[in-house]
Amino acid sequence: MNKNDLTRRQFIVAASAGSLAAVASRTIPAYANITQKAAKLAILGGKPVRANKSWPRWPYWDENVIDSVVKTTKSRIWCRIQSSSGTVPTWEKKFAQLMGAKFCVATGSGTQALHTCVEALGIGPGDEVITSPYTDPGTIASILSARALPVLADLDPQSYQLDPDDVERRITENTKAIMPVHMMGQPCNMERIMAIAKEHNLKVIEDAAQAHLSEYKGKKLGTIGDLGCFSFQSSKTIACGEGGAIIGNDEELMDKCYTVHNHGTSRRGRTEVIGPKYRMNEFEAAILLGQLAGVQERFARRNENAAYLTSRLKDVPGIVPQKLYDGTTSGSFYLYATTYLKEHFNGAERGKFLKALSAEGVSLSSYIGQGLHKEPWVEHILNSKVYQKMFSKKRLQRYRQENSCPNCDKVCREMAMIWASGPLLGTKDDMDDIANAIQKVYENRDKLNLI
Ligand SMILES: Cc1ncc(COP(=O)(O)O)c(C=O)c1O
Repeated sequence: MNKNDLTRRQFIVAASAGSLAAVASRTIPAYANITQKAAKLAILGGKPVRANKSWPRWPYWDENVIDSVVKTTKSRIWCRIQSSSGTVPTWEKKFAQLMGAKFCVATGSGTQALHTCVEALGIGPGDEVITSPYTDPGTIASILSARALPVLADLDPQSYQLDPDDVERRITENTKAIMPVHMMGQPCNMERIMAIAKEHNLKVIEDAAQAHLSEYKGKKLGTIGDLGCFSFQSSKTIACGEGGAIIGNDEELMDKCYTVHNHGTSRRGRTEVIGPKYRMNEFEAAILLGQLAGVQERFARRNENAAYLTSRLKDVPGIVPQKLYDGTTSGSFYLYATTYLKEHFNGAERGKFLKALSAEGVSLSSYIGQGLHKEPWVEHILNSKVYQKMFSKKRLQRYRQENSCPNCDKVCREMAMIWASGPLLGTKDDMDDIANAIQKVYENRDKLNLI
């Protein structure tokens, strides 16, 4: 598939969401083809595409958020166990409803939500969980905290998501679960991942920390696997500083999640199992409840802006937006990600492109500099007495040998993304600034090696 096909398909996929019907009917404007060639790069002394303009600020708040926090302060109900109608139980009901799930347990962070699920599924020492190296450290921490082994599978380099074939290759007799990470808030290939899980009798914990409200084949992300986890950390598209949630439809399993996250104490008041204290506090939920009214509208706006940006970028062959799988209806667009192909930029390294673009007033960056398979925790656990007790010498040797994810390395080298929670809430003019700046740098690609 060539680059133009890819972006056109992505545009159609994104535009096919109900809320994006307006985008689908929009014709590509004439200025998409305006040449910026004559314009001198700002980094070489020219006029920047964007100057003295700010992006929409994030995290979002309005008077509703303030009122909600003040109300909680005055209520003196500051902890979830004080009242069954406090802000945390209310948020749990509303979030479950919003996501089309039967149950929700709120936690103090996305990492806590994931760890709670690992424990509730009975996964622990000697067990293995397959996940992605291209993620937040919280994903791995949730598995390590249960003293299980995070096995990192490689990526599909065009979608930055777990490659189902590599997941399957890495299954051993100790594998208990797959933890797919919906990177950038876009769906993994869940059809394949669920089929693999079924065939090998594995549980699926969706790390949907970045993927609030995203839909795949008519289902919200987080409701496809056995359990789904979200983060409400400040940068996320629904945010309260630090916070998280687990959603699911299996009442018994969700009850276990409640018990685990509540220092092992069940809703019946008995202390039954091993568990940390991971309860969300009432002020965090007050912030979440206060911003609920505009959440759908902001989600639709990000999708509309992302579809427009993708349609504009089809004229720049060296910038390829994230591949979306068939069945993707919409995404949270926590991050709007693209692959930078230096062969289309006169061989200029990504750093030069990013510098030139930043001088034009548009800052793209990498997501993480390197995959988590390259971080020191790997040697830390392989050399730790605890892991040496839990796993055979042969298994740990094999783990070290197989700990390579070349596609992830490639993605880390090529990624150029914009942190989208705030900027993608901008106007069409803001999106044009992003696309025009990228196009201008592309058209001046012969100058990039002068930087
Ligand atoms: C993909 C992913 N997983 C897990 C987490 C952890 O969430 P939290 O920071 O709320 O603990 C994050 C947060 O950045 C994330 O992006």
